[in-house]
Amino acid sequence: MNEIATAPILADKTDFIPKEDYISREFARREKERMWPRVWLVACREEELTEPGKFVTFDIADESIIVTRDGAGALRAFFNVCPHRGRRLTKGCGLTAKFYCNYHGWQWNLDGSNKVMIDGGDWTGIGPDDVGLRPVRLDTWGGFVFVNIDGQAQPLLDFLHPWPEMWESFRLQDMRYRWFKTTRLNCNWKVALEAFLEGYHAQTTHRQVNPACGENRWECRTFGRHSMFYDANPESVGAPNPNLQYLPELGAEAFTGIDDRRERIYRYLKTVAGDLNCLFTDRMVEAARRLPERVPADCDDATLMGAFMTLHLEIAKRDGVDLSHLPLEDFGALGTDWNMFPNLAILPTLDGLLIYRARPDGDDPDSCLFDIFPLERFAPGLAPRVVREFYDDWRDGAFPRIFVQDFENVDEVQRGMKSSAFPGSLSNPRAEKVVWNLHREIREMILG
Ligand code: FES
Ligand SMILES: [Fe+2]
Repeated sequence: MNEIATAPILADKTDFIPKEDYISREFARREKERMWPRVWLVACREEELTEPGKFVTFDIADESIIVTRDGAGALRAFFNVCPHRGRRLTKGCGLTAKFYCNYHGWQWNLDGSNKVMIDGGDWTGIGPDDVGLRPVRLDTWGGFVFVNIDGQAQPLLDFLHPWPEMWESFRLQDMRYRWFKTTRLNCNWKVALEAFLEGYHAQTTHRQVNPACGENRWECRTFGRHSMFYDANPESVGAPNPNLQYLPELGAEAFTGIDDRRERIYRYLKTVAGDLNCLFTDRMVEAARRLPERVPADCDDATLMGAFMTLHLEIAKRDGVDLSHLPLEDFGALGTDWNMFPNLAILPTLDGLLIYRARPDGDDPDSCLFDIFPLERFAPGLAPRVVREFYDDWRDGAFPRIFVQDFENVDEVQRGMKSSAFPGSLSNPRAEKVVWNLHREIREMILG
């Protein structure tokens, strides 16, 4: 306990984050006791629970929760533990008619009521009614299934504010999985998540963007526990990064001799789309490729951006994806990347969405489970059938290049932070405010 009490206090203006937040067992224990049970957590998507008996298990810290649809069609969540002697009942996801314990054979219906208590007559004073699966509070929004472990959190929509208002016209509920990969990482869940909560690292870690990413100016907005960042200078896309002189080159040859800004934007988006395999959709890349159909090379920024958006919307419509519900001002206000408190990073494009989720792995502050699950807008009936993939080691997971570049940082951050020479992070007061805000909120919950 002392190690946290003696750490420097996260004062409002310092932007300093004590390293104990990441490496201390005591800090992780307090998160487990005082934060994870008290928040709303995304367990899965509704699209995974389309019929009775479909289930997903959601593991976080030392808890495991089963989310399922019962015979009457209602969504349900239960602690994934046998009331007899504590065996975990199931793992992964699938389709089942009942839940079953492999140890002594007790069984439960999809609504959590006990179905079979083998030799139940041996007990006096305890019967099937006493050994139902313990329910977990559940709610849905935007196609996400949320759980609240202690059942005491404020109502979901209040907890999510301002998500329900700001994201309403985006219609998250219309989106479906593009793919789903989970890997174990040898770092704290926050080290992993924060690699995806700021744009400041992109020019160095993902230096292939530099020939044409423009002069990004990352600015943050905080909304209490949730926060986001955006590029305050998006019109510069297509131009070289002015910091290029300080950064090693990667992929510059694709832009050599290309002065036409429309072509530079197209090559840039194509590169990033290939390196993500999501978010920058095929439609978005096609819109960039076809810019010369609509605007001359020397047109002004606003005309170029307007033509790009219009083309993207037209291509989506051609593909059976109607975006008339989404005013462009609403979309613009969503910026680049959000932290849905506590453990999600979410990036939108018009018809794509990239979601990262980080979860502590048991009570080890040096290990986490990290999910990447992009969504996309598909024409009716065209969403792919996505099977969740799990990798103990990300090197086995065929992750696209951008994720590999990020993963290469996170283990080294966790190791580096343990040095006696490192007291904590000096987060960038402008570009890394989202990271700082996450710690401010966690500290308020667990130390307050
Ligand atoms: S531990 Fe589950 S039936 Fe015994
Ligand atoms: Fe990154």
